[in-house]
Amino acid sequence: MNVREEILNLKRELNAAILAHNYQPYEVQEIADFVGDSLELSLLSTKLDAEVIVFAGVRFMAEQTKALNPNKKVLMPIPSALCSLASLVTVEMIKEYREKYPGAPLVVYVNSPIEVKAEADYIVTSANATKLISKLNSDTILFSPDANLAHYVAKVTGKKVIAIPPTGHCYVHLLITPYDILEAKRKYPDAIALVHPEVPPEAQELADYIAGTSGMIKFVSRSDHKKFLIGTETGMLNRLRREFPDKEFYPIVPNADCIGMKKITLESIYYSLKNLVYEVVIKEEYMHKVRRALDRSFEILGV
Ligand code: 13P
Ligand code: SF4
Repeated sequence: MNVREEILNLKRELNAAILAHNYQPYEVQEIADFVGDSLELSLLSTKLDAEVIVFAGVRFMAEQTKALNPNKKVLMPIPSALCSLASLVTVEMIKEYREKYPGAPLVVYVNSPIEVKAEADYIVTSANATKLISKLNSDTILFSPDANLAHYVAKVTGKKVIAIPPTGHCYVHLLITPYDILEAKRKYPDAIALVHPEVPPEAQELADYIAGTSGMIKFVSRSDHKKFLIGTETGMLNRLRREFPDKEFYPIVPNADCIGMKKITLESIYYSLKNLVYEVVIKEEYMHKVRRALDRSFEILGV
């Protein structure tokens, strides 16, 4: 039996589901029950009757899924699959800014550790950050941890968005420079450039469209164009090529690889199911606070 068949058998035996982020390797996306963006997947997980969920993605995504599914076993195939952006913020930093800007709502990006999410007034993804912030009754917003996304939100909403920390960034998206976008456009002049709002502001300026991973999928599905330049983590091309086989996708930076995302393999998923490891455990106190912040956010967003 090959590893794919072994995984499918274990999934049936254990009543398990595999959720894979849009950045996951092709073969992982193929075997997953659902592929999507971080928030999309954790929301969907609450509707599944599976007792075990294997999350093929990085730690903050698995933690968020656990927070929404306290009675399910949530497994990470590779416990060291981390998001470096999420590691840039601490509760101490948040407290310092809260003191400096009393009354300013704290909006936390899903790419953050669970203890920081527990401090949040609202929790967002790149797909809904501008919508939520534009609806808040405050002109000054504290936003953590991505400063480039904070810049994008400030530009769209016209609000003062203070990034915590001021230089919070994703090393993968920092690789996508204006030069790379111009070069890709020169090579493929009839392609549309889609970039993630985590890229630096100078690169955002050159994009034809700025969106998170689910926003890119929506844009392509509605577009008559055939060719697209993709300015985000390279795994996104797997999702787009699977979903739109008649369209062409080119990475703006072909080595924009997220180490955490790329750690997951079919073998690690098999090992995870076979041995029921590595279980995500989070403090009850955090689960409760995170759920409250999410509920507050969904109410404003009308989800
Ligand atoms: P999404 O919010 O679109 O899932 O992207 C997460 C991410 O890690 C971006 O780099
Ligand atoms: Fe985090 Fe960047 Fe990887 Fe996304 S691509 S999971 S932001 S390190």
